[in-house]
Amino acid sequence: MNKKHLCVFGLGWGDEGKGKIVDLLGGSFDVVTRFNGGANAGHTIRIGSERFALHLIPTGLIRPGMLGMIGPGVVVDPITLFEEIDQLLERGIDVAGRLVISDRAHLVMPYHKIEDKLHEGAASDKTRIGTTARGIGPCYADKARRSVAVRFCDLLYEDGLPQRISSIVAGKRASFQALFGQHGGLNTEAVLSLLDTARQRLSPFIANTTCWLREQIATGKRVLFEGANGLLLDIDHGTYPFVTSSSTGPHGLAAGSGVSPQTVQRFVGTIKAYSTRVGAGPFVSELTNEMGDAIRKKGHEYGTTTGRPRRCGWFDAVATRYAVNLTGCTDVALMHLDTLGGFDHVGICVSYNIDGEQTNEFPSDPHLLSRAKPVFEYVEGWSDELAGIRRFEDLPSATRDYISRIESLIETPISIASVGADRAETLVHDRFRNILSEMTNA
Ligand code: IMO
Ligand code: MG
Repeated sequence: MNKKHLCVFGLGWGDEGKGKIVDLLGGSFDVVTRFNGGANAGHTIRIGSERFALHLIPTGLIRPGMLGMIGPGVVVDPITLFEEIDQLLERGIDVAGRLVISDRAHLVMPYHKIEDKLHEGAASDKTRIGTTARGIGPCYADKARRSVAVRFCDLLYEDGLPQRISSIVAGKRASFQALFGQHGGLNTEAVLSLLDTARQRLSPFIANTTCWLREQIATGKRVLFEGANGLLLDIDHGTYPFVTSSSTGPHGLAAGSGVSPQTVQRFVGTIKAYSTRVGAGPFVSELTNEMGDAIRKKGHEYGTTTGRPRRCGWFDAVATRYAVNLTGCTDVALMHLDTLGGFDHVGICVSYNIDGEQTNEFPSDPHLLSRAKPVFEYVEGWSDELAGIRRFEDLPSATRDYISRIESLIETPISIASVGADRAETLVHDRFRNILSEMTNA
């Protein structure tokens, strides 16, 4: 079997360090493909003194010579995309000729962002999701509705697009007025002018990516699939309704990029050595005390996309085991081990107590999940000085014990561990190095 393709995805509520892992592994691949989500993602990479934060452009494109694809499952805000293309160009990285956008991908329109904001603003404290306000939910909802959706192929080939847009905008204005008492400043001319700019600027990037990707694979290129958001935010399997609107794991990869599910052999799930969540929703292992504040401060836990402070807590082995079992995750990348350095003890949530009953199963019901109390186990802390370490065997014994304990709780090997933000500050297990070199030589 052809063993060349790999997927990196998040096992938690996003922000697990996917950008760093995609960047790290990128050198062994030729193409990086985004398959879900949109500009709600914020993937950060640090190489020496350079820091990049990307929302839509596949992270791997930072590497010279790499090709990138935005698949049919992604929802694309053209404004964010122009900004990213320009910002990269200013820093000497030209994606022209290296990036393709699926003609099947949907556009996030100005009214999607307006609706996202108005809807969240009007929601009660109980129902507000705490979205990134990037128009993700409304765009995916219109995709499912079909008649009001706009895809890149429409931008290129639909003769009656301006008329259809006028009627969509009129409908949205009326519905915003009725629901929220205002139309949010939406007007047809501005939307049409944005679409004109998008057509002019993005036409060279738009392609039938299903054929394009098949051809890349047929000619021996190695593909890295870059997931956005995280499994616990998955529309079907996450902590619904406090989730995003796409399939965030390997199960979304085939649909979202236009390949067979058999294409990928290796699934690297990223997760932090503690838990974070931004936005509302149940979070069993959350620490709403000084310890949580200390983790936030030490880990700089503020959103890349929205700047919001992230909620912090101990590693949740129940939720992570659920995520690895569901996704067929073959390798775990454990991120931010350095952030936990310097504390006297470190906790792990090993099970939940729900109404007096102990369980290791992650409940599907949000009401039950919000009643779950964490059962913590504590291990000895470790030193603050991990950044210079490059091999698992050189980690302090308390850190190695922590890794082994998590491996046994989640029943999956930890193949990569991060001890700092820089690309270089990463440990890769020999076992996984061998797998990568087999992939490279396949
Ligand atoms: P990356 O790829 C963190 C969260 C939002 C909110 C919920 C729904 O950087 O890991 P949405 O705007 O998608 O409708 O918001 O999902 N969320 C993320 N949180 N990182 C992300 O992506 C996220 N994408 C969505 O905070 O709670
Ligand atoms: Mg994020």
